[in-house]
Amino acid sequence: MDATTTSGTPFSTVIRVASHEQHTEAETSTFMSDLLGGRLGMTAYARYTEQLWFVYRALEDGAESLRDDPVAGPFIRPELMRTAELERDLAHLRGADWRDELAPLPATVAYAERVAQCARDWPAGYVAHHYTRYLGDLSGGQIIRDKAEKTWGFTRKGDGVRFYVFEQIPNPAAFKRSYRELLDAVNADDLEKQRIVDECKKAFDYNGAVFRELGAEFPLSA
Ligand code: HEM
Repeated sequence: MDATTTSGTPFSTVIRVASHEQHTEAETSTFMSDLLGGRLGMTAYARYTEQLWFVYRALEDGAESLRDDPVAGPFIRPELMRTAELERDLAHLRGADWRDELAPLPATVAYAERVAQCARDWPAGYVAHHYTRYLGDLSGGQIIRDKAEKTWGFTRKGDGVRFYVFEQIPNPAAFKRSYRELLDAVNADDLEKQRIVDECKKAFDYNGAVFRELGAEFPLSA
C-alpha cells in the first residue's frame, strides 16, 4: 500500500517516512556536501542564502492570507518567519545594496512560484511546503549554521547565520513536537493527506533542483 494514513499511523510519521529517501538525497547533494565540507567560498553561501530569500518571500507573503484558513491557518506562526533574518544575513554577506543584485536561479523561480500558487489556491499544499522548509530549518539547519560559522567565521548566531536562529523558539525540540501534533490533526481527509505527502515530495524535488543549479554554478566537489 502507498504511504497513506488509513493504517492509523500518525500523519507526522507518514510524511517524515515518505520523504526520508529524498531527505538523504538533499543532505548528500553535491552542493550541500561541498558546503558542509567547507569547500565552498562565502560567495556560494551568499548565493544559496539569496535563493532562500525568494522561497521564504513566497512562503511568508502567502502566510498573510492563510492565517484564518482551516487547514493552513494553525501552521502560521510568527516565531517561524525568516524573511527579516534572511535580509539581515544578505546585508551582511553582500552589503547594503544587496537588493540590487538579486537574481533567482530558474529552479528557484519555479519553486517560489509553486509555493505562491499553493498559498493562493491550495492551502493543504502550502502545508506541505511549510513543513518541508520550517521543520528542516529547525533540525538540519542547525548543522548548517554550525558549519557556516566555522567555515566563514560568522559570529555565533550572528549576522550571516540569523536565518538559522529562531530567537523566539527557545526549545526547538518542544516546538517540533507541537508542530507534529498540528500535522497529526491537520484538517484533511486521507486522500488530501496523500496529496500533501505528494506535494512534500515535490517540495524536496524543488530543493534538489536548486541544489543542482547551485552545484553547476560552484562546481567544486572533490
Ligand atoms: C545538509 C543538509 C541537511 C542536514 C544535515 C539535515 C539534517 C536533518 C536532521 C538531523 C534532521 C532530524 C531532526 C530530528 O530528528 O528532529 C532533519 C529533519 C528534517 N529535515 Fe533536514 N537536513 C538537511 C537538509 C534538508 C533539506 C534540504 C530539507 C528540505 C528542504 C530538509 C528537510 C527536513 C525536514 C522536513 C525534517 C523534519 C523531518 C521530520 O521530523 O518530520 N533537510 N534534517
